[in-house]
Amino acid sequence: MSLRDDGAAALEWAARYLERVGELPVLAQVQPGEIRAKLPPHPPERPEPFANVLRDLDDVLLPGVTHWQHPRFFAYFGVTASEPGILAELLAATLNNVAIMWRASPASAELEAHVLDWLAELLGLPPGLHGHIEDTASTSTTAALMAAREATGRSVVVYSDQAHSSVAKAVKLLGMTAREVPSDGEFRMRTDALELDAAAAVVATVGTTSTTSVDPVAAIADAAERAGAWLHVDAAYAGAAWVCPEFRWSQAGVERADSVVVNAHKWLLTPMDCSCLWTRRPADLRNAFSLIPEYLRSTDDADNISEYGPALGRRFRSLKLWAVIRCYGREGLQAVIREHVRLAALFEGWVRDEPGWELCAPRPFSVVCFRREGSDEENEALLQRVNASGEAFLSHTKLNGRFVIRLAVGNAWTTEDDVRIAWDALRREASA
Ligand SMILES: Cc1ncc(COP(=O)(O)O)c(C=O)c1O
Repeated sequence: MSLRDDGAAALEWAARYLERVGELPVLAQVQPGEIRAKLPPHPPERPEPFANVLRDLDDVLLPGVTHWQHPRFFAYFGVTASEPGILAELLAATLNNVAIMWRASPASAELEAHVLDWLAELLGLPPGLHGHIEDTASTSTTAALMAAREATGRSVVVYSDQAHSSVAKAVKLLGMTAREVPSDGEFRMRTDALELDAAAAVVATVGTTSTTSVDPVAAIADAAERAGAWLHVDAAYAGAAWVCPEFRWSQAGVERADSVVVNAHKWLLTPMDCSCLWTRRPADLRNAFSLIPEYLRSTDDADNISEYGPALGRRFRSLKLWAVIRCYGREGLQAVIREHVRLAALFEGWVRDEPGWELCAPRPFSVVCFRREGSDEENEALLQRVNASGEAFLSHTKLNGRFVIRLAVGNAWTTEDDVRIAWDALRREASA
């Protein structure tokens, strides 16, 4: 194979894909098992040209792709793998640096620390935090809770009934004990019900998964300080909004957190995966994770990022984040966030003004929670019809026991027309 020739074809494929993705059905229109049935049962004996891979990407795999890069992908949290991020992924794979220790990849180690300082500055986080990149928020939160357990010698983790399931999973993984706190009428952790006695950690969320509600972090920080508990803030989605000063109200109290996670692969234009974890207690993270076998010992006077988390081998993830930040700049990132919030507000207004529809939660950022009047079953069937049309892809949650539809704007190519098409599809299917 020729990297130059096949590479040009692959890049052309990528460019054309992004040009036409908006014309494809957003949700893959396949049944379970359909893609595997089209794949050869056995691996090839002889080398094949790379062109065959590209051909089968089109013919076999593409029908089974749910298009996260589609401008009408409104499910879960909408995301974007932007062009600089895509190209940097190619370069990171080309270098294939495995950052096990500083000397194995000095540039990767130092760029990671530096870019996390940059991002902390862009987001208005306090100076002096230690930052590193994990694959996902699930891992970042697991790392933070493990540090909390080591630092406090306790094992209870407290979080609200709106916290992401990754928190409960981390607790399970670490053999810790969960204590759930109810949320209020606006889905924020109820601090009057917060009991941190003997707690190792409390996890506050800025931008919960269901409604993007914001826990009262400052009051939670007061309670954590009194109880000697570690405060971890999960801002996996909404932390990106802090790049805009007008959304920094949701950061109040985060400056007192022991650790905070923001996923650049959610709302910061960076391809999966890139979860940014900052801590003001790096020594505790290092105590929890540092374990250097003989074959990795060195006399380098340097920080080994692998001593701050569970993985030893680490991809050169900072390269794509660096590329995104450089190619967008503060202004470019702000423009994307502001446009997404504007589009969500527009959609929210249409729902509010339309008889027979109802808003189900406040909308602080770019996610609208709503439902059509009628039963849960009717709303679920409505959502299924819209998704099956391929015109838009939305997802759901349950709030106060009721089925609620979510529209999450997060794709950089989403326009007002795209949001309008989704709304038209919803109204059409509702009256069908
Ligand atoms: C608030 C929040 N925290 C954590 C996660 C988990 O993120 P990841 O998939 O990076 O583990 C999500 C996923 O959507 C989330 O919404």
